[in-house]
Amino acid sequence: MGKSILVVDDEQSMRIFLTNILLKENYSVVTASSGAEAVNRVTCDEPDVVLLDLRLPDMDGMTVLEKIKKALPAVPVIIITAHGGVQSAVEAMKKGAYHYLTKPFKVDELLIMIERALDREILRREISHLRKQQQKEHQTECIVGVSPAMQKVHEMIERITESDATNVLIYGESGTGKQLVANAIHYKSRRASKPFVEVNCASIPDTLMESELFGFERGAFTDAREKKTGLLEEADGGTFFFDEIGDMSLHLQAKLLKFLDTKTFRRVGGTKLIQVDVRIIAATNQDLPQAVEKKRFRADLYYRLDVATLRLPSLRERKEDVPLLAEHLTQQSTRKLGKKIESISPEALKILAEYDWPGNVRELENVIERAAILSEDGVIRASHIPMDLMRGSVVTSGGAMGPGFDLEGLSLGNGKSLKDIVQGIERTLISDALQRCGGNQVQAAKLLGITRDILRYRMKQFELPSGRLAAV
Ligand SMILES: Nc1ncnc2c1ncn2[C@@H]1O[C@H](COP(=O)(O)OP(=O)(O)OP(=O)(O)O)[C@@H](O)[C@H]1O
Ligand SMILES: [Mg+2]
Repeated sequence: MGKSILVVDDEQSMRIFLTNILLKENYSVVTASSGAEAVNRVTCDEPDVVLLDLRLPDMDGMTVLEKIKKALPAVPVIIITAHGGVQSAVEAMKKGAYHYLTKPFKVDELLIMIERALDREILRREISHLRKQQQKEHQTECIVGVSPAMQKVHEMIERITESDATNVLIYGESGTGKQLVANAIHYKSRRASKPFVEVNCASIPDTLMESELFGFERGAFTDAREKKTGLLEEADGGTFFFDEIGDMSLHLQAKLLKFLDTKTFRRVGGTKLIQVDVRIIAATNQDLPQAVEKKRFRADLYYRLDVATLRLPSLRERKEDVPLLAEHLTQQSTRKLGKKIESISPEALKILAEYDWPGNVRELENVIERAAILSEDGVIRASHIPMDLMRGSVVTSGGAMGPGFDLEGLSLGNGKSLKDIVQGIERTLISDALQRCGGNQVQAAKLLGITRDILRYRMKQFELPSGRLAAV
């Protein structure tokens, strides 16, 4: 069905006339003959456009318009008015009507106006949707995790956002969400409407970094033809995120310290003192106290930054969060890929839950996205998960069928039952055999010393794909 249009007119002949035109254009049509009915229809049917005759028996047209806009603020309302009613139509537009038509009007005129109103409405909805999504992506609600370690993180974020000045130091292995948390702190704080500016201290050369941060005056160096404001100035009122602060040079550390002490700085080659108000968030995966000991990081800067400290747990320290994260990341991939993924199979979840995740949430995100791409029926299955991950969950290393078949990871007592381990080995052996035989089930069954029926049964049980196996 096409877009829906609500026709509000007390004259039956007019309702029938409009309905016929609109149905021919593939719109779906709802009608109302009184103001009260119109308001009711708007609430229940949420039409995409309303055609409203201002002269109604039960209610003043303006009142109806107001009620419609209150119930469904974004809906475009086109006023249809009798000749001579232009004045009230204009007034209606001031009250939020989209446009007006005076009777008699040409059918084409009406159709074009409806089309335009719809275009505008689609655009508006898209923009507001994108904006909402963007906002949401930054909110702490999107920092998924209910484990005690993550609860602590959530509490810390709450506390930090209550104040809007304290500097924050975030520790965490690669992929644990340092950037995500830095964003959340900014967007939850009173600084949210001001800029969030970030630099990665590891990726910008020292010489460039200084002018990037502080800006420069014209003529400060050979290439400086124009003055340039620095990133710190751009962040005024907002938050400045120094990613990988452990990699900042000692020279810049001294400059940054001076800025933190005075809240002022000079552009490169300049004399004027510039004052800015920013909250500093710094993140690192290095052990800063150790860097201080080794004189690679200034102690005074460290103490300046270490006011509120957040330690993000690795994913293996909070494995209970894996299913929840997997679910969240699947939805994220669904949006990104424009593909519908309904669920993750229990077998696949089991593999995810048992893996150690050295690359933390980022690695899980990559695995899920890849699986979402491979999935054909809206379900992420074990066969969509990389083989080495599966092995990692049962056997520590080495091909299961090869001479180096490794039993090290098989000790009991690490939360896995004997059945789990045996099934894991069985699955690995079967998938290895299938891979070796290029997916030929007869050959693989022979290699494994089982019948083809049993092989098929096991493949189904372990959700291994049939057909020629791509080495996923
Ligand atoms: N708790 C979480 N909930 C949801 N998504 C998360 C979470 N933690 C991390 N992510 C996602 O994982 C990815 C990696 O996170 P992020 O970039 O913040 O990590 P990082 O610690 O900055 O990593 P690196 O040190 O590699 O820069 C991002 O896409 C992020 O959205
Ligand atoms: Mg990062």
